[in-house]
Amino acid sequence: MKDVADNTMKAPGASDPNRRDFLLLATGAAGAVAVGGIAWPLISQMNPDASTVAAGAPVEVDLAPIGEGKAITLKWRGKPIFVRHRTAQEIADAKKDDTAALPDRQADAARVRAFDGKAQEQWIVVYGNCTHLGCVPIGFSGEYNGWYCPCHGSHYDNSGRIRKGPAPRNLDIPEFAFLSASKIRIG
Ligand code: FES
Repeated sequence: MKDVADNTMKAPGASDPNRRDFLLLATGAAGAVAVGGIAWPLISQMNPDASTVAAGAPVEVDLAPIGEGKAITLKWRGKPIFVRHRTAQEIADAKKDDTAALPDRQADAARVRAFDGKAQEQWIVVYGNCTHLGCVPIGFSGEYNGWYCPCHGSHYDNSGRIRKGPAPRNLDIPEFAFLSASKIRIG
């Protein structure tokens, strides 16, 4: 997963210092957060259920430590998953682009999940593998300030929709559900 770590560490390169805190959150370890370019090995150390998670069991993710405008990367079933807390402006941008020329047309609303009947549109949860050849895109980057895959130049928006480049489809969304307004279960 070294490639994942390297790419993840590039994500804080966004110019907005508020977005430089690229959080790595260990599931099940409440409040256990590392800031900055801390790589995958730390996740494993922090996560008391690492072996269980690696085996593919569902994991619960506490969203409370993820501030607005920030994101975390976690590893589940051997793959990176991005959990991004969008700002109101980012949500508005994504909705506005529902009518843009989208290579893999999907409304932003179809990429979020609800809790208690209310769309939790501030949360985007996607697999962190480019749908071209699987590289790990860089967060808060690219022409749409979503993710940018440097391998061959695919640009995703903050909804994880492919906007430009060779990737054939939007970032995939794992099976997940809200257990509360501040907790999700993946798997
Ligand atoms: S793997 Fe991402 S653009 Fe090719």
